Amino acid sequence: MAAAKASDLALSGLTKVFGTTAAVDRVTLRIAAGEMVALLGPSGCGKTTTLRMVAGLIEPTEGDVLIGGVRVNRTPVHHRNIGILFQNYALFPHLSVVENVAFGLQMRGLGKSAIRPKVDAALALVQLSAFADRLPAALSGGQQQRVALARAIVIEPSLLLLDEPLGALDRNLRDSMQVEIRQIQKRLGITAVMVTHDQEEALTMADRVVIMRDGRPIRASSQASSAPAISCAAPSPGRLPTSCTSNSARVDEPSCPHRRMLGKTYSSPFVPRRSS
Ligand SMILES: Nc1ncnc2c1ncn2[C@@H]1O[C@H](COP(=O)(O)OP(=O)(O)OP(=O)(O)O)[C@@H](O)[C@H]1O
Ligand SMILES: [Mg+2]
Repeated sequence: MAAAKASDLALSGLTKVFGTTAAVDRVTLRIAAGEMVALLGPSGCGKTTTLRMVAGLIEPTEGDVLIGGVRVNRTPVHHRNIGILFQNYALFPHLSVVENVAFGLQMRGLGKSAIRPKVDAALALVQLSAFADRLPAALSGGQQQRVALARAIVIEPSLLLLDEPLGALDRNLRDSMQVEIRQIQKRLGITAVMVTHDQEEALTMADRVVIMRDGRPIRASSQASSAPAISCAAPSPGRLPTSCTSNSARVDEPSCPHRRMLGKTYSSPFVPRRSS
């Protein structure tokens, strides 16, 4: 199976005000087609709110969301061709694995004969073909999350949004799911935005990491890049950055979430992943 057509994503001055507080404050960001970007930052910095505006679950107060160059501010969520994977994978408990994955295709009006091959391909991709007829309650947490992933990608989305998708899983499962999701996203060439407050997860999975604080990227990169990290001096091979700077502030100060990973050695196949 393949993504319908990966689209680039552009956020332009994207703002959401709740009451008198700007939860997201003039975020401008471009994500290239096929790129995976992680939004990383402390609790309450506006990551989910940003993602919900991209998904069409809430309307921006100001600014624009453009998918494939088309402004979608007023396009309802089910017309945006977006796959969504959240921490709470919210499978339908009374539907089998196959029925859960087929749901989005049924909603799009596809007939049974068109649906089954797509569902089978998605289940094969997440290695759950043998579990097709089970109910969610008879699956492990990791298996349930893979069903949710299959459900998100079966519609062949032009954009995949992941909000803390692995937060409910234990460390081992989390590590393997990080690799699996990344491989599937690469194989299908889907544009993806992932939200996390786990810097290791961000660096393992994403092409590019955008650190947010107080509703804003502390460094809003406007260009796609194959380097995984953000505002950092180049690390020595196999190691994470040793110093960071941003447009507005140094981010190797004690409060910087990025700081905690300084000097740590990584063996992930995806880190470091730098353009030559
Ligand atoms: N519906 C809402 N009404 C009022 N305030 C809201 C609403 N949704 C979010 N907020 C506020 O907006 C800010 C950003 O919230 P958001 O959920 O985007 O944070 P987050 O970065 O995803 O945090 P976390 O890592 O804890 O999930 C928070 O201060 C939150 O309290
Ligand atoms: Mg959140």
